Amino acid sequence: MKNRVLFIFLLSFAVLSLIAGQTTDIIPRPQKLKENGQAFVLNEKTKIIYTKGLQKQAELLECALSPATGWDFVLSEGNKAKINSIVLQLDAQINNAEGYRLHVEDKNIRITGGDAAGIFYGVQTLLQLLPAEVYSKQRQKEVAWAVPGVSIEDAPSYPWRGMMLDVSRYFFEKDYVLRFIDMMAMYKLNVLHFHLIDDAGWRLEIKKYPKLTSVGAWRGEGKDRIGGFYTQEDIKDIVAYAAARNVEVIPEIELPAHVLAAIVAYPHLSCTGKQHQVPTRHFISRDLYCPGKESTFEFLEDVFAETVALFPSQYVHIGGDEAVYDRWKECPHCQQRKEELGIQTEKELRTYMNNRVQKMLAAHGKTVVGWDELIEEGLAEKAVGMVWHDKKKALTGTRDGHDVVMALTGHTYFDFPESSIPGEVKAATWLPPISLQKAYEWDPMLDGLDEKYRDQVLGVNGCLWSDQFIHGDELPRINAINENRAEKYMDYLTFPRMAALAEVGWTPQVLRSWENFEDNMATHYRRYDQAGYGYRVPQPKLIAKEEENGGFLITLENPVEGAHIRYSTDGIPANVHSTVYTAPVQVEDIHDFQAITVVNRRQFSLPLYFPKKYEGYEKYGTLLAEWTPKAIKAKVFGAFEMNATGKINKNAAYELTFLFTGGQYRLDIESVEVFKNGQKIAEDLHTGFTGGTAHNNVYKFTIDEYETGAAFTIKARVRGDLGNDSNGAVFIKAL
Ligand code: ACM
Ligand code: ZN
Repeated sequence: MKNRVLFIFLLSFAVLSLIAGQTTDIIPRPQKLKENGQAFVLNEKTKIIYTKGLQKQAELLECALSPATGWDFVLSEGNKAKINSIVLQLDAQINNAEGYRLHVEDKNIRITGGDAAGIFYGVQTLLQLLPAEVYSKQRQKEVAWAVPGVSIEDAPSYPWRGMMLDVSRYFFEKDYVLRFIDMMAMYKLNVLHFHLIDDAGWRLEIKKYPKLTSVGAWRGEGKDRIGGFYTQEDIKDIVAYAAARNVEVIPEIELPAHVLAAIVAYPHLSCTGKQHQVPTRHFISRDLYCPGKESTFEFLEDVFAETVALFPSQYVHIGGDEAVYDRWKECPHCQQRKEELGIQTEKELRTYMNNRVQKMLAAHGKTVVGWDELIEEGLAEKAVGMVWHDKKKALTGTRDGHDVVMALTGHTYFDFPESSIPGEVKAATWLPPISLQKAYEWDPMLDGLDEKYRDQVLGVNGCLWSDQFIHGDELPRINAINENRAEKYMDYLTFPRMAALAEVGWTPQVLRSWENFEDNMATHYRRYDQAGYGYRVPQPKLIAKEEENGGFLITLENPVEGAHIRYSTDGIPANVHSTVYTAPVQVEDIHDFQAITVVNRRQFSLPLYFPKKYEGYEKYGTLLAEWTPKAIKAKVFGAFEMNATGKINKNAAYELTFLFTGGQYRLDIESVEVFKNGQKIAEDLHTGFTGGTAHNNVYKFTIDEYETGAAFTIKARVRGDLGNDSNGAVFIKAL
């Protein structure tokens, strides 16, 4: 009894505080939102009423509310908003696809939409207005299920808001895929781009070619044998589950490259017919489908016939990326085909193949999607280009009349980690990390894209490649997650960045702000906790670092509601037992300060800290020079001069190491020459580079005529490989 009184007191308090000034934290941010000061409180008598055709949406709402509240809500068809009801209503007046209106007042909640998708999204917004516990699958007894009074009008900016899941390099079980769809739907993402095929595994059952999956879906030997595939029944389940949540599943059937798994199963598909193995390490095979043989096209016809029967989407993604033509050049079939067609190059042969495939799919009523390579190569009909390289591909693609979807490596490739802080998960390294802010702060109408092409920009697509854990033995080493499972690792890469992507695709650019998004995220981590989704815990936010009393006064903000910050000031890494942060902290040596966000003892962030410049670079010797975009040219080699006086300080063998630290482009190095008082005394003339990865970036020379007082200079010839946005440092070490 006492508990009940307390509960009612707390409940009224919660409702009152909602009325007093609740601000909402909906992601993606709705187009229009007005608060009306009222609140609706859900109870066991709340009814769900739906207009004809929305029974499925009503059931999904009930399934979302029932586990955490513990109540079975009564559903009924109708269109009158009764007291204490949630009404779902189709409204022909709302004519923007996927748009909805949500009105909450003390008596009832009304969700109206022009289509079922809009209703579903109204429901997703409603869930985000409820306490975070609503996402729990367990009953949460002590929660006041209050919804702040609002009127929302909302619709997406872009029709394509997608995520690619690479199930080839790592096979995700069907249950994970369904869960991934839930994660997408929570943020109103609507395209699952299913990367089903790649060198390392074929994942789609094709009944006419059983070896694609009996052979091509498995790799390794003995106890290391791993793999799996989706049966056609699995695919039907996935497609139906997705459709109910307004997610369209688009299969990617790669060609002509990234298909070694198919070639292992059926060697005649390649130019050489050689028997290969499904690779157990990540690489991009040079064995492509052979467009010289008619049997290749027969195979593709058959595969597409079964594929289109499974996926109702208007689109089929045919890959098209990263093909090299070595095999085609040496293949008598390919060369004969070229001769018959009267074409000169392998690139034209590729266009021939693409056009045949496009025609095949057009006969099934399908539009092809491909990576941006596809729309560059003279397709006969319009296609959708998925722009991953750079803006230029979007500019030419739209100009040539193709639609485009932005999947830029620098913003949407979530297989890159969020940071390069020590302890960050092992992830892709060929480009710099993609922080949450970088995932958020970009405009799909890329700078320079003409407004007249706006309708051709369909939207955005995040990409979760899984080649980082193809090997299967990387995961136990990931201690930041402390969980030996790819699924948790994938969650860590996905959340919170997928929330950022969702807002990029949904919310008009003028309404987007990083500060607002970052604030709104604070409560979303709690939703992930409730739903059982993994995520990357953000570091404490630095509000101020002021010089004071010979040291620094550091002010922090906790970025995760319900978590707290702990810190250390003695150079020992902060941990879950360190001092709790409650007020700005005075520190003497800024490098001795560390702080972490602690959700619980097992879940905490990487540290916020202030590294000494080039911390961890000691092994390369001492700093000789730094290059910045100003110091180098784009694409053409030029001299980069470094003063080495005092750094060359004895007769010895020396090592010079070039290390990239940031920017869009790697540094190419052509030569290094050493001068004493203007006279060349040593050189190392090999080529090397340093970027996301480095190759031959160490230069060696020997000094045997050292003189005190002499001036030493080192001249390197360098360039930024595609642009001059490159930063880094050169270190020198006497061996
Ligand atoms: C790609 O990253 N190869 C599309
Ligand atoms: Zn061939």
